[in-house]
This record gives sequence, structure tokens and C-alpha cells, in this order.
Amino acid sequence: MAENEPQVNEFQEMIGTCDAILHVFKMIRKVAATDVPVMVTGASGTGKEMVARAIHQRSNRGKGPFVPINCGAIPRELLESELFGHEKGSFTGAYRSVAGTVERAQDGTLFLDEVGELPLELQVKLLRFLQEYTFERVGGRKSIKVDLRVISATNKDLVELIGQNQFREDLYYRLDVINISLPPLKDRGDDAIIMATVFLKNYASKIGKDIHGFSPEAITAIQTHSWPGNIRELVNRIRRAVVMAERTTITPDNLGLQFGSINPEPFVNGLGLKEAKAKFEAELLSAALARYRGSVQLTAKALKTSRSVIYHLIQKYEIPLTRLTS
Ligand SMILES: Nc1ncnc2c1ncn2[C@@H]1O[C@H](COP(=O)(O)OP(=O)(O)OP(=O)(O)O)[C@@H](O)[C@H]1O
Ligand SMILES: [Mg+2]
Repeated sequence: MAENEPQVNEFQEMIGTCDAILHVFKMIRKVAATDVPVMVTGASGTGKEMVARAIHQRSNRGKGPFVPINCGAIPRELLESELFGHEKGSFTGAYRSVAGTVERAQDGTLFLDEVGELPLELQVKLLRFLQEYTFERVGGRKSIKVDLRVISATNKDLVELIGQNQFREDLYYRLDVINISLPPLKDRGDDAIIMATVFLKNYASKIGKDIHGFSPEAITAIQTHSWPGNIRELVNRIRRAVVMAERTTITPDNLGLQFGSINPEPFVNGLGLKEAKAKFEAELLSAALARYRGSVQLTAKALKTSRSVIYHLIQKYEIPLTRLTS
């Protein structure tokens, strides 16, 4: 995502209908009313920041600031000053005093993003801060007290990091008082299609293109893609598709999802996955043998396998050998 684009979906609230997300919505409402630290976990692009903002907005700090800090994106030498601020002259280049993220989150929410990336020495400082909500700026002596709520997020397994002595257990228990875990998009049932439809409507109207929906193949593509980049990937593919579309419906090609062009209904035809795979293998082999005029050698080369595998498959699928050459 480009730097000048907002991190939060510019158009709407969180979308979700599957049980796991309905549970997340319930958790958001419950924790919003309190000040307890919340840890949001989930793979990249699953909506961790969106959840953090949703909690903030619904809390009684909603009118205060939401201040994110990406612990993984700031060089470690700068991280302490970024978090806690610094006094003029405290290090080379510190020409004036600057308030850190913690101070700017006064009356609001401090969002510690990618908290698993925090170096150990700063984990100690953060832990100390979380005990009293007081801190000193780098190079400063005055103790400053703030009133804020902490939400953190990570796509790392912190328990594993604790086992490797890369994350402090005491800090973990301070941050992970309530855990909200976001499932990957592929496990959210119809939500992928529901979200895709909303994103499509929004982006199409934003750039003034008349697009009604998805072709049946595109629906299949969305349903069967594994979505390693989760909702961020979905947002980006829909944007791309809206730009690329030449007709009033989105095709798998517009989405950059070629495999979606296989429509499982006529193809699978009531077969299970195993039978469908066998059928596909047999059809592919026949087609390749036909193209190479029965040459086992060329067929094996084209299918990147050995001749013995081709011979084995010919027998297995009882492919008629009219013009078998070698
Ligand atoms: N449930 C949802 N409904 C609508 N949009 C969503 C939902 N979840 C995430 N998004 C959108 O998906 C994109 C990624 O979400 P977000 O930045 O919150 O994820 P993340 O888990 O913080 O990602 P990363 O690990 O890459 O930092 C954003 O554009 C966000 O608006
Ligand atoms: Mg994020």
C-alpha cells in the first residue's frame, strides 16, 4: 500500500458475518468500555489495526488521539526517542525537545504495532512505563505521567518468542490481558465475497466506472484463492480489477487470479477432489500425448516429469496408444 494512502479502509466499518468475526465484534464492544490492555493477533492483513481503531472509537477515549507506533519499522537507535520523546541536546542532532508517541497519546490510545519486534532493552523500558504510566524523555529528568490506553498487535507467536528469550514474559502478561485473535480470510466463509462486493461498489463509484459485479468465474476465483495477504490483498486485488475491467463485470483475469477460470461445476461433475484430480491428470496426459503425436519423451519433457512416470500413467488411466512413438 502506498505511503500516502490511509491505513484504515477509507470507506466503511469492519465487515464480517462469520461466527469468528461476530465474536470479534462482541469482544470489541466489551473491551471498548474498559481500559484494559488488549492484544490483537492475526496474520498480516487480517485487520489488526482496524480492530484497534474500532476499540478506540467506541471507548470513552474516542475523542482523544489514536497514536500508532510501528515497533518493527523504526530503527532501534531511534525507537526509544520515538516512544518516549527526548530533550534538546540529549544526543547529536537533538536540536529541540520533542514529545514521543506515548506523550502524544494522552487521553487517547497508544497502538503498539508489531510489538513482537521490540528490542529487549526497550521491552524493559516499556514494562516499567506500564507499571505506573510514568516515564522520562530521553535525556530528561522530569517524570511525566500520562493517562492512556494501550492496544498492541503482532503477527508473531509471542509465546514462541518467549521460549526463545526474545520477548519478556512479564511484558507479555501486561499487554495480553485480553486477546483478540483474527482468523485468516480463507477461514471466513462467505465474508470474502461479501467484502469483495462492498469494496467493488466503493471503488467503482469512486473512480466513476459502471461495474455491476463479478462473473461466476470471478466468484469461484475469490472463493478458492488462498488469500495469503488476507483482506489487504483482497482490497488491492479489487482496486486493480476495477481499474482493469473492460466490461461491466469483473473477471478472474481482472483480479489477477487466473486459476479461477476453471469452473468446478461442469469439470468436477460431482466427483470428489481425488477423482477430480485423477480426471484432470488423465485429460492433461491425453492432451499432451495428442499434441506430441504420442511421443512419450516429448510429453514427459513438456510435463516436467520422467518417461517412466508417463508410462505408468498411460497404464493407470488406460490411455489408448494409437501413435505411441517412444
Ligand atoms: N473486517 C474488515 N472489513 C473491511 N475491511 C477490512 C476488514 N479487515 C481489514 N480490512 C481492510 O484491510 C486492510 C488491512 O487491514 P489492517 O491494516 O487493519 O490489517 P493488519 O492486520 O494491521 O495488517 P498488517 O499485518 O499488514 O499490518 C485495510 O485496508 C482495512 O481497512
Ligand atoms: Mg497493521
